[in-house]
Amino acid sequence: MSKPTVALAADHAGFELKNLLRDELKAQGYDVLDLGTNSSDSVDYPDFGRKLAETVAAGKAARGVAVCGTGIGISIAANRIPGCRAALVHDITSARLCREHNDANVLALGARLIGVETARDCLKAFLETPFAGGRHSGRVAKLGQPA
Ligand code: RB5
Repeated sequence: MSKPTVALAADHAGFELKNLLRDELKAQGYDVLDLGTNSSDSVDYPDFGRKLAETVAAGKAARGVAVCGTGIGISIAANRIPGCRAALVHDITSARLCREHNDANVLALGARLIGVETARDCLKAFLETPFAGGRHSGRVAKLGQPA
């Protein structure tokens, strides 16, 4: 079965973890879109959260991975874009449930808070867990309604 395209974006605090996850996804056969940043030079996380969310919302990638220092700023930025459902997670159970219950299409990680092994586990759960549908479908649809 073909694997989905995964877009990744990070600010300077997240670029090392983003690069590590990108390379591992490539090695696993995923198509990846690396939207930057690509150095430790200081950048603004809203720019990268927006770019990632627009890419996923436009269907250019099925899923996204957003990384900043805490994951907080970049997830707030991503969730401003209609069609983006970004979930900030720190554990594998949250990574599974954000797919099963919320149909999250962007995984947000805090590179300064989470270990590499946990980040890997979260990403695997995020990519491999399907949306459960059923009673969750109407709730997710409400997330797409204008404020
Ligand atoms: C950058 O220093 C830091 O503020 C950013 O990566 C992120 O943690 C913001 O939420």
